[in-house]
Amino acid sequence: MSQRDKITINTLLKMKSKSEKIVMLTAYDFQTALLEDRAGVEMILVGDSLGMVVLGYENTLPVTLEEIVHHLKAVSRAKPRALLLGDLPFMSYQASVEDAVRNAGRLLKEGGAEAVKLEGGRRMESVIRAILDADIPVMGHIGLTPQSLHRFGGYRVQGKDPASAEKLVEEAKFLEEIGCFSIVLEGMPWQLAKRITESLEIPTIGIGAGPNCDGQVLVVNDMLGIFEDFSPKFVKRYGEVGREMAKAFTDYVNEVKEGKFPASEHSYS
Ligand code: KIV
Repeated sequence: MSQRDKITINTLLKMKSKSEKIVMLTAYDFQTALLEDRAGVEMILVGDSLGMVVLGYENTLPVTLEEIVHHLKAVSRAKPRALLLGDLPFMSYQASVEDAVRNAGRLLKEGGAEAVKLEGGRRMESVIRAILDADIPVMGHIGLTPQSLHRFGGYRVQGKDPASAEKLVEEAKFLEEIGCFSIVLEGMPWQLAKRITESLEIPTIGIGAGPNCDGQVLVVNDMLGIFEDFSPKFVKRYGEVGREMAKAFTDYVNEVKEGKFPASEHSYS
């Protein structure tokens, strides 16, 4: 595959068959999407993590479809080579199949997404089938699904006992059978994620699910070290951008107060 070929769901399936790792990141704005795309990520997700890392909500539940569409529009203006995914936020697909199809459609029609992601396994069957019937590719998401925060009683690693592990294996198989093109495996023991990955033809993308998934995803603000409210074990920081920003802001405040900025080179004559 040439570096410039547009990534499609078929590219991702081929990558799995050739055991090539798939790289995915979240993005919420134009500039970040450009930089990620130039770096070579294969998928960009405008995730509902937007709510926590950009909009300041306590969890992902308050995120609205309008908010996802707004940020998707910004990201899609980067015209990424990467496959662009929009996340269906809480209550945009749970209440009715009709809602789900209409809202998934808005992510493509208004936001410029090329596929959608939604949380849940077998109980989402009718919703996923209907979205697929509208020719919208669907990525599944199982394990520690953040929209189920209150049912789980917190952000708890899933699939730790044999019965819940079996259920997740079965859920993943089911999502593949009904036509999802890929599945995010979040917050589960690496051994379970490995077993699921080996049992599927479609690629798995892990977050907190160990190294044996077909690909990995991180929330961009976490990996850059911008979002510091909590840092789960699975996050690796590839930068200390938050610290850099804090230093730049402090330097600017001090220089303005001390009359050092603007200097002559920043001034017109
Ligand atoms: O919302 C999000 O960013 C996600 C990823 C962590 C997979 O769902």
